[in-house]
Amino acid sequence: MKRTEIRDLNKKFQDFGGKEIKVCGWARTVRDSKNIGFIELNDGSFKSVQIVFERAKIQNYDEVAKQNVGASFEVVGTVVLTPQAKQPFEINAKSVVVLGESATDYPLQKKGHTIEFLRSIPFVRARGNLFNAVFKVRSVAAFAIHKFFNERGFVYVHTPIITSNDCEGAGEMFQVTTLDLERIAKEGKLQQNKDFFGKKVGLTVSGQLHEECLTMAFGKTYTFGPTFRAEKSNTTRHAAEFWMMEPEMCFSDLQDVMDNEEEMVKYVISYVLNECHDEIEFLNRFVDNGLIDRLTNVVENKFERVSYTQAIDILLKANEKFVFPVKWGVDLQSEHEKYITEKVYKKPVFLTDYPKEIKAFYMRLNDDKKTVAAVDLLVPGIGELIGGSQREERLDVLKQRMNELGLKEEDYKWYLDTRRYGTNKHGGYGLGFERFVMYLTGISNIRDVEIFPRTFGSIEG
Ligand code: 4AD
Ligand code: MG
Repeated sequence: MKRTEIRDLNKKFQDFGGKEIKVCGWARTVRDSKNIGFIELNDGSFKSVQIVFERAKIQNYDEVAKQNVGASFEVVGTVVLTPQAKQPFEINAKSVVVLGESATDYPLQKKGHTIEFLRSIPFVRARGNLFNAVFKVRSVAAFAIHKFFNERGFVYVHTPIITSNDCEGAGEMFQVTTLDLERIAKEGKLQQNKDFFGKKVGLTVSGQLHEECLTMAFGKTYTFGPTFRAEKSNTTRHAAEFWMMEPEMCFSDLQDVMDNEEEMVKYVISYVLNECHDEIEFLNRFVDNGLIDRLTNVVENKFERVSYTQAIDILLKANEKFVFPVKWGVDLQSEHEKYITEKVYKKPVFLTDYPKEIKAFYMRLNDDKKTVAAVDLLVPGIGELIGGSQREERLDVLKQRMNELGLKEEDYKWYLDTRRYGTNKHGGYGLGFERFVMYLTGISNIRDVEIFPRTFGSIEG
């Protein structure tokens, strides 16, 4: 007999009434009295199914009854509709095979563990409802992103993970080397040319620069993959390894970039609300009571568009004590971003045209020569969700900017070539995917939207 998945059973359980089926899964609970017992069986579908087993019907009653939470089973039985009970149906077992016992120290014996405790046991945390919901949303959101760009003719490109360029220029790259560090320390001599690639390389902080080479061939592209930052910030929104999704569009300006961001965010939210009904309901109930309202509002309302200079004025006039002082030219801290998006506008806000000193070299210099055509999307509860810009397409201006920042032209020849042959106004952005999953689920710590989080000073597995 073929196995029926519990998700299919749940979708149209009425059709299964009176039929014999086979299900497999792990026990969330096992309860028994002398002659009748119950297993709450879950196979990864969000909802579990109740198995009823009776001493009179199965030979191995005692073996089944003594099983622990976490054990895996194969059950054959009849679907019984129970319209009066809490769950609308159950399975009355004809046979129960114990596939894998679960040791008595299984960490999820009871419900209601703290999220911090669950974080310490990655191998089972996904077996509870909370992480099941979060990782399902994560999967559906990733699919929705692909669907969105695919429907609009974007080409999905894969850019290198190992690279010699620090795209953001912030010096946050993890170095990749095959050199024997202990020997170097002992001998006190470093020969970089003896390293694997013959020069210093690291893990990518953004695929954007490599991607631009492909965008200049296809017109519109996106990347979506692992990204690494050796940022020593121990916050709830920073991970050392995370996923970034970066679209890039030719013949486009900053307004086009913002339009695409807004459309994409709304599209993915709508898709998740439609496809993850049970999961979002659960998260709304147990994690963040305002989740559904907030997501619905985001889809229905226009995002605000405000310049950095306007934002500084707002902050200067604010009747609020900030830890970090505000003046034109400073990089905005999360307290400032929070004030703008949570207190002033209470919705997603595009902040544009930042001072060039606090942004990356590739952003297009505005006519005022002081600001660049940058845009950050700030959202309530998270802060910066997306960072993007119109790119500097003028070779001379770009080279001058690189000189100012001490970047060597010869290291970027492959990038500058895109400006030599058919340059055009273009732009793009990078979405921090974990931050987006936090936004979609109401989860407040980035460590809880990655199954094996890597953060400053902490790595397991
Ligand atoms: O603003 P960032 O640094 O922009 C770039 O890297 C551009 N090259 C993107 C582009 O235009 N193609 O990073 C983009 C986003 C941030 O807005 C944030 O959401 C996320 O990446 N991000 C992080 N997420 C988790 N942990 C970290 N340490 C992150 N650093 C950035
Ligand atoms: Mg940024």
